[in-house]
Amino acid sequence: MKVKFTNLYKLIPNKSKIIKKVNYLIKNSNFIGGKEVINFENNFKKFVKAKYCVSLANGTDALEIAISSLNLKKNSEVIVPVNTWISTAEAIVSNGLIPIFCDVNLSDYSICVNDLKKKITSKTKAIIIVHLYGIPSNISEVKKLSVKNNIKIIEDCAQAHGTKFLNKHVGTFGNVGTFSFFPGKNLGGFGDGGAIVTNSSQIYKYALRARNHGAINKYDHKFSGRNSRLDTINAAVLNIKLKNYKKVIKIRNKIANVYFKKLKNLGDIELFDLSKKNTHSFHQFVIRTKYRNTLARNLKKNGIQTMVHYPYMLNELKFFGKHKIYKAKDLGEKILSLPISEEHSLKEINYVINKIKLFYKNKS
Ligand SMILES: Cc1ncc(COP(=O)(O)O)c(C=O)c1O
Repeated sequence: MKVKFTNLYKLIPNKSKIIKKVNYLIKNSNFIGGKEVINFENNFKKFVKAKYCVSLANGTDALEIAISSLNLKKNSEVIVPVNTWISTAEAIVSNGLIPIFCDVNLSDYSICVNDLKKKITSKTKAIIIVHLYGIPSNISEVKKLSVKNNIKIIEDCAQAHGTKFLNKHVGTFGNVGTFSFFPGKNLGGFGDGGAIVTNSSQIYKYALRARNHGAINKYDHKFSGRNSRLDTINAAVLNIKLKNYKKVIKIRNKIANVYFKKLKNLGDIELFDLSKKNTHSFHQFVIRTKYRNTLARNLKKNGIQTMVHYPYMLNELKFFGKHKIYKAKDLGEKILSLPISEEHSLKEINYVINKIKLFYKNKS
């Protein structure tokens, strides 16, 4: 049996509806802005229960615009977890600010609050929390620290559409939340896409201009911005996919529960340790083992694709400077992402589990 990590074609729901819609947009030459984009922003802000949503060209731009909306003094420090996609730190650097890497918990791979307390200095002006793998970070603790120290919070929700901390959507706790709609994401479009959500009218108005050369209406430039618009066809696809999205989270949770049940106490495998009070969207299902490389090779031989998110911690990229990290020190050598998506059948997931069991049986 072959088990792909993701099958993007299979992940497209309502294909005939999408084709009909795209045909309509092509016939009417609707490519930039318009009703589809406005509808998507309205639908997405309703979905996450935020006051405002501004759609953008990708999740990296969303981070860059979110950070610049806070108007932080140049060379201020911004704390960011060490286990995340490079964009989270890049957006800090491209804003003329300094990323300070923070350790992550080994239970859920989210920002370690104890280390965060140590990393806050008088130069810290913002914290970016990353709800990695669709698992919410401990926002209530981070929020307490941000209030105490007068620090802004950005939530990187690129992997966490529909993830909730207690009963509230991630992205709505801090000053601003950012999303990516990259095709492989849980809610992925036909190409790059992104958005910010916020309850601040000031940030909303800034982002509306920042994505469109500093202008809302033609030639009404108020500052030097950029081109970061979500394409109309992409917005139309995302509108259709969003309608189906609650079902996606349900199936991903069902698969995650099978992994939890059947991989528990197997060999040296460490699983997520998650609070039942939260809603997880399981963008990835990550296990940890010191046999990561041999296990991945073995699964590959059996037709199973796995991935690593990520093979290095960001402090290992020397151009980001020197940072002290303890818990996550060699995480990049141990973590392995197993196949999980709404299109994987239980037969495929059980095949993956059986091959992992066999791997450990042959070890003992
Ligand atoms: C945690 C995280 N932040 C930011 C991004 C950047 O999003 P994009 O690829 O849409 O620019 C990604 C995408 O992989 C991500 O996973």
